[in-house]
Amino acid sequence: MKKLLLQLDSSRHASVFDQVVAYDAGADEIMSAPAVTPPDVRDLVHGCIFTRGPKHLKNTAVFIGGADMSAGDALLDAARKAFFGPFRVSVMLDSNGSNTTAVAAVVKIVRAMGGNVRGHRVVVTAGTGPVGLRAAGLLAHAGATVRITSRRAPDGARARDAIMKRFGGVVEVTCLTDAGQTAQCLEGAQVLLNCGPAGVQLVQRAAWANRSGLKVAVDLNAVPPQGVEGIEPNDDGVARDGVTCFGALGVGNFKMAIHKAAIARLFDSADAVLDAESIHELAQTLSG
Ligand SMILES: NC(=O)c1ccc[n+]([C@@H]2O[C@H](COP(=O)([O-])OP(=O)(O)OC[C@H]3O[C@@H](n4cnc5c(N)ncnc54)[C@H](OP(=O)(O)O)[C@@H]3O)[C@@H](O)[C@H]2O)c1
Repeated sequence: MKKLLLQLDSSRHASVFDQVVAYDAGADEIMSAPAVTPPDVRDLVHGCIFTRGPKHLKNTAVFIGGADMSAGDALLDAARKAFFGPFRVSVMLDSNGSNTTAVAAVVKIVRAMGGNVRGHRVVVTAGTGPVGLRAAGLLAHAGATVRITSRRAPDGARARDAIMKRFGGVVEVTCLTDAGQTAQCLEGAQVLLNCGPAGVQLVQRAAWANRSGLKVAVDLNAVPPQGVEGIEPNDDGVARDGVTCFGALGVGNFKMAIHKAAIARLFDSADAVLDAESIHELAQTLSG
């Protein structure tokens, strides 16, 4: 029986990246629905759950993507509400690669910190995007004191509130309008995770290199210039200026493995819900 993936994407164009990864991970056909809003979800999901008998439902699954994290959360909520009894299929949320990328970075950070971030201070620069929101949440949930940055205080406060509501833990916000302010923002930090957008340098080398107490620095931006000056995209635990460094491809290779494993997991049963925590559990079973 064909493995069918329904792609519910909140953006105007359904993500080609997500489609390619899904095919590579074993989906036979992808049915893409772009610009999906919560009221659309029930009927689309009914198309999945009422067509194949219960014992074959594991061959159909739902993938939720799009550029907006809160829109993705709302679509997942709507999909779960459309399930009842045995009429359900597995579902995965990964808006803009948020969960798989954040999980890959967090697993690398925790391992580089000796297996625990509890009580450590982590700065997530540009922590208001999909990846930063999920990474900050997972780190706060793991017991780190997390500081996210945003260019605008109200946006930072909204993101902090959303993270703490979803994941608990302790999250602070710093308004960062200029790369020159980053050194001050890193005071007392053991970990730096840059989740800034493609092609924007948010952290200069002088802010992090040889900084007392800083142990791990991660840059997720793969597009030149580097988001963190001095970290190379292929860095995967490279020691630079006293800090263990990870670049976008060093994290990205693991992200791809997690993303593919998660898609494959969708077709193992009809009842998986793959969101940040469950994707984190799955990633810990993979070698990174
Ligand atoms: N390595 C991988 O495998 C992988 C996979 C997926 C994504 N990524 C990368 O991960 C990073 C985060 O992705 P994302 O989708 O969460 O990012 P995003 O939404 O594009 O941007 C994150 C935040 O950056 C801030 N920002 C936007 N434009 C800016 C500018 N010109 N100058 C300074 N700050 C700006 C915004 O925050 P404020 O408005 O609050 O300041 C925004 O919320 C990106 O670099 C992406 O390419 C890497």
